[in-house]
This record gives sequence, C-alpha cells and structure tokens, in this order.
Amino acid sequence: MRKLGVAVIGCGAIGPAHAKAVTEIEEAKLVAVCDAREERARKLAEQLGVEWYTDYDKVLERDDVDVVSICTPSGMHAEMGIKAAKAKKHIICEKPLDVTLEKCDALIRAAKENGVKLGGIFQHRFAEESRMVKKLVEEGKLGKIALADMDMKWYRSQAYYDSDAWRGTWALDGGGCLMNQGVHFVDLLLWIMGPVEWVQARTDTLTHNIEVEDTAVAILKFRNGALGAIVATTSAYPGVCARISVAGYNGSVVWEDDKITFLKIEGEEEETKTEKPTVAWGASDPMAIPAGLHTRNIYDIIRAIIEDRDPLITGEEARKAVELNLAIYKSSQTGEKVYLPLTY
Ligand SMILES: NC(=O)c1ccc[n+]([C@@H]2O[C@H](COP(=O)([O-])OP(=O)(O)OC[C@H]3O[C@@H](n4cnc5c(N)ncnc54)[C@H](O)[C@@H]3O)[C@@H](O)[C@H]2O)c1
Repeated sequence: MRKLGVAVIGCGAIGPAHAKAVTEIEEAKLVAVCDAREERARKLAEQLGVEWYTDYDKVLERDDVDVVSICTPSGMHAEMGIKAAKAKKHIICEKPLDVTLEKCDALIRAAKENGVKLGGIFQHRFAEESRMVKKLVEEGKLGKIALADMDMKWYRSQAYYDSDAWRGTWALDGGGCLMNQGVHFVDLLLWIMGPVEWVQARTDTLTHNIEVEDTAVAILKFRNGALGAIVATTSAYPGVCARISVAGYNGSVVWEDDKITFLKIEGEEEETKTEKPTVAWGASDPMAIPAGLHTRNIYDIIRAIIEDRDPLITGEEARKAVELNLAIYKSSQTGEKVYLPLTY
C-alpha cells in the first residue's frame, strides 16, 4: 500500500513536532515542509531530508501530497484548510480550529463538500489518563456530578508575546490564555462533561501588553446539571500544573498534566491512585510538550483517512472549545450570562 504523503505547513514552534511525528508513522511519508520564512522551512527540510517551500500553493500542486498538516498562526487555519480541501488534500489542523465560528464552519463545510477528512489536534485527549477520566464519568462511576472544573495557571513572558506579530492579537491568536493555551483543557472539560448550557465570565489583561486576555474566570452550567468553573491565566509564576477535577457524590478524580493525581470511588478503595506528576510540562515552556501524544493524534487521523472513517477529533469536535471560549469572551464583554449554542 502506498504511504500517505504529508506536507507540514508552518515550521515554527509546533510544525517540527508534526513533521517528526509523521516520520514515526508507518503508513505516512513526510514529503515536504513549508514556511513563509525560508530559513525555517529550509532548516527543517534539511534535518528531515525532504523538500521545502515558501509558497503554500506550490505544495498543494504536488500530486504526492495527500495530507497537509496546518501549523500556522491560529487565524490562518480555516483559509489554508479550505484551500487544501479544494485541492482534494486531507487536513490535519492544529488547535484552535480557527478563531471565529464562521471560519470554523466554513472549513468544516469545505472538507465535507470536497470529500476530504478534517482532523483536529487536541493531543491531551490521547493520554490514557484523560480517557480514564472520561470513562469514569460516562460509566457513572463517580455518581451524580456536582462540579467539574479546570484550572491552568501558566506563564508566558512578555517576550513570548513579542516574539511574533501574531501572538496576543485578536485577529490571528483569537484570544490569549483561553484561546491559545487554555483551549486544550477547555476541550478536555467539554469532552469529559458534555455540552454547556450557559456561561458567566470575566476576563482581563493584567500583566502583559497585549490585545487579548491573560486571565479568565468563568462559571459554567453543564447540560447534565453540574456546575463548572474555568480558571486560566498566563500570568502565573511558572511551575503550576494544569488541572481538571471532577467531583461526584460517589467518587472524585483529579487530573494534572496527563496524570491522575487523585481518585477515590466509594466501595473501590483499592483502586485509589495518587501519582504526582514529575514535571509541569508546558507550564512555562511551550516547547516542553511531549511529542508522543501528537504522534497518537496524527496517527488517528492518518488511520481515519485509510479506513475512511471519522477521526476521533473531527472538525465539529475541535469547534466545541472555540465556541465555549467565544461565549466566555462575549459574557465578559456584555456582563451577561451567555447561552449556548452561540449564533452568528
Ligand atoms: N497542540 C499544541 O500543543 C500546540 C503547541 C504550540 C502551538 N500550537 C498551535 O500551532 C499553531 C502555530 O503555533 P506556533 O507556536 O508553532 O507558531 P509559530 O509562529 O512558531 O509558527 C508558525 C509558522 O507559520 C509560518 N507561516 C505564517 N504564514 C505562513 C504562510 N502563509 N505559509 C507558510 N507558513 C506560514 C510562520 O512563518 C511561522 O514559522 C497555532 O495555531 C498554535 O495554537 C499548538
């Protein structure tokens, strides 16, 4: 069987991790990398022995490119993905899917109309521990859930935001601590708990000189009846884990940085597990994110193309966290409770 040819678009912080992940997948072959900045494309191409481009359209002209992996600034994802779909290329798209619902929907539609797969990246869904939390909730092991919350107290320096013109802008980053970093854990919370009925929120920009928020707090009401909370910042002195905790009447679980650090279920004391995470990856260094989960996420999309099935993270799935983040922004701007689904 011919291997699927993959081109990675965007060779900045995360593109190289995609390229490397592709080289680890038997069914795929990295054929090209592309970056508008020649030195970035050339460097990665030389490391991996593939061709490089600065012009995305030229990549799409190649017959041996079956899949593009979009690793460019967030507000460019839909436009680049739609071009790929029209060129009949399957799409792997980094988080967030894009920064507005209009653009997310246009991308989802383009993939469907052109008969190509669209797979989103939310690599933490591929950690066994994340799946375990979801399963505990789905199987009702925790009993009636009262509260589910996520908190991410991370650090990004002003130098990080100043490192590229797109960072910290509404147009291309789409938001700050929520839309860029927190979106991972917003996604996990939604994946574990299901849809949100309404949100009441307050966001602020407290320690950085950026357009977007660096701190956010939200109260959620889930459709399953539970209350929830989202607390996120990129203003915290580094080292604190990202955490999701689910509190049920018959059991409680705490997830920290892809580890279960607390689990107690009534009548199942022997299953109690308290494993402390050793490093707070990603808490201060966006490059310290383990590539293994990316490989799993990309592998699932490659297999979905081969098997002609949906990937685990479809465009619709990847859109959910974008929608909740946008509802949080809207609530903060208006001071009102915002009901989902959002309309535009
Ligand atoms: N899943 C994760 O853990 C994770 C981690 C980091 C970033 N990301 C996401 O990946 C995306 C990229 O983030 P990053 O930190 O790597 O950004 P980056 O700025 O480091 O890299 C983006 C690259 O895209 C290139 N680019 C811009 N316009 C282009 C064009 N028209 N054609 C080709 N290349 C172009 C830029 O030159 C740059 O090198 C963002 O959406 C971000 O949210 C995800």
